[in-house]
Amino acid sequence: MIEKDFIPSAYNHTITEGKVSYKSPSNIALVKYWGKKENQLPQNPSISFTLDACATTTKISFKRLNKPSEEYSFDLLFEGNSKEDFKPKIKIFFTRIEVYLPFLKEYHFTIETSNSFPHSSGIASSASGMSALALCLVALEKQLNPEMSDDFFTKKVSFLARLGSGSACRSIEGDIVQWGNHENTEGSSDLFGIKYPYKVHDNFKRFHDTILLVDKGQKQVSSTVGHNLMHNHPFATQRFKQAHENLDKLIAVFESGDLKEFIAIVESEALTLHAMMMTSMPNFILMKPNTLEIINKIWEFREKSNSNVCFTLDAGANVHVLYPENEKDVVFQFIKDELIGYCENQQYICDRIGFGAKQLKMNA
Ligand code: PMV
Repeated sequence: MIEKDFIPSAYNHTITEGKVSYKSPSNIALVKYWGKKENQLPQNPSISFTLDACATTTKISFKRLNKPSEEYSFDLLFEGNSKEDFKPKIKIFFTRIEVYLPFLKEYHFTIETSNSFPHSSGIASSASGMSALALCLVALEKQLNPEMSDDFFTKKVSFLARLGSGSACRSIEGDIVQWGNHENTEGSSDLFGIKYPYKVHDNFKRFHDTILLVDKGQKQVSSTVGHNLMHNHPFATQRFKQAHENLDKLIAVFESGDLKEFIAIVESEALTLHAMMMTSMPNFILMKPNTLEIINKIWEFREKSNSNVCFTLDAGANVHVLYPENEKDVVFQFIKDELIGYCENQQYICDRIGFGAKQLKMNA
């Protein structure tokens, strides 16, 4: 598929008003997306576990205007309160996607959104937030064009979510989603995420992700700034090549169930992401002392217990602790005994692999 395929032809239905609501999860990348080309196209393929507990719920009420407005017409409520400072981001998103959703200026939208996780937790809400918004908008489009197939619906949502925030395109489906052209993954595309199409061993079926909130502050580096640091980065070419290779290795690991190899790839990806930030110009250290304490504790515990617990990181100080279902009691005890003390106010979020976004029933 190419970008043009997402531009609709004339709609065959008219809808004057209605409501639609979706709950969409966050995701955690195993092979990281870091570096983009124009139009939010990734420099390398990435793959993630879809999460379950960390999610955004968005409801859109829409009303057709008598005549199309000059500017986008919408109100935004975040957790029940009007949120003016979120509006510019939505406006930019609407501008990027209008060519694919030409009805945007024909309606007034009331967008009500809330997160399942605390706002100031240092957990990025862009993946769940942008995917939830894209879902609601394409659901409205489906009312204007009821012939739209389910497959096209999912692809278009992912395609549009990507234009809001790259990683958001991996949040629509579960439980493992791949995004970005990759020679050895059939159907992979830079334009949207696809459900991982190959065999996944039972070892990975009910993975846990306990998110340790080491630093709940605002992000020190926005992801836009971060991705741009990969332009002219001295190690960029090598890094992009490595992501392809790690994905090849992960395909084999998902098939065989080799947890030790899984750990090696996932931890290397996390540290490489941070190494890219440390070696860019300007450079950033986004890990905090407690991030390192946690990593060392995980390594020590693994050494002495032969557990298959491992960590990954986002572009921040928080640590995602990943572990298989059959180790959940032992590892969770270890987390409580040895890791939670390194979290800000001892806060953490228990999450696990999830199965993607869900439409919510609307009261009339
Ligand atoms: O979706 P963005 O532009 O916020 O970028 C996300 C980048 C990482 O979270 C660091 C990696 C990833 O693949 O999710």
